[in-house]
Amino acid sequence: MRHPSYREAFPRGIGQKAGRSPPGRCILLFMRAIKAIYPGTFDPLTNGHLDLIARGAKIVDHLVVAILRNSEKGTPLFTVPERVEMISEATRGFGNVSVATFDGLLVEFARSQGVNAVLRGIRAISDYEYEFQMAMMNRKLDPELETLFMMPAEKYTYVSSRLIKGVFQLGGDVSGLVPPLVMERLKAKVPGHP
Ligand code: PNS
Repeated sequence: MRHPSYREAFPRGIGQKAGRSPPGRCILLFMRAIKAIYPGTFDPLTNGHLDLIARGAKIVDHLVVAILRNSEKGTPLFTVPERVEMISEATRGFGNVSVATFDGLLVEFARSQGVNAVLRGIRAISDYEYEFQMAMMNRKLDPELETLFMMPAEKYTYVSSRLIKGVFQLGGDVSGLVPPLVMERLKAKVPGHP
């Protein structure tokens, strides 16, 4: 079912009187389920990602964590099936979170999933420019798809998958920054780590 656009729903603006709207229309509008997609490479999932998933899952009806299969970020540490497994396990406790993978344009995948919003995290001002460009490009490609930005807990604002991999591969301790199950996978992946 196609949802009405903002203009179709509120032809005279949000403050309008109900007028001659078909009975029940407003109720239908406000009962609309929000399904959002949280896309990324998640190589690997960090506690920052998990924090954002928890925040997102609280405000939307269903959240799809979507792993980009062909990322341009070079050779990944974890395969896509490994990442699916880790995220599925880490999010098992949420009743409204699912995991998927996608290729190609995010907006196309979002459309195929019946998603109405994209969730992205902003850790610091440095994230903003890239996120803004991406949100605007996605809006150009699909004006009906909104981007929601949320901020992770302060203690995770410096955490990124890239840093986690780099530090761990050099023998550094990243415990507390990734879920325990990711820690185990990292140890298995990088032999000789203490
Ligand atoms: O984990 P990342 O690298 O921050 O995630 C980036 C991601 C996967 C959200 C982004 O690269 C993406 O959506 N790629 C799919 C291709 C696409 O739709 N590009 C146009 C958006 S600008």
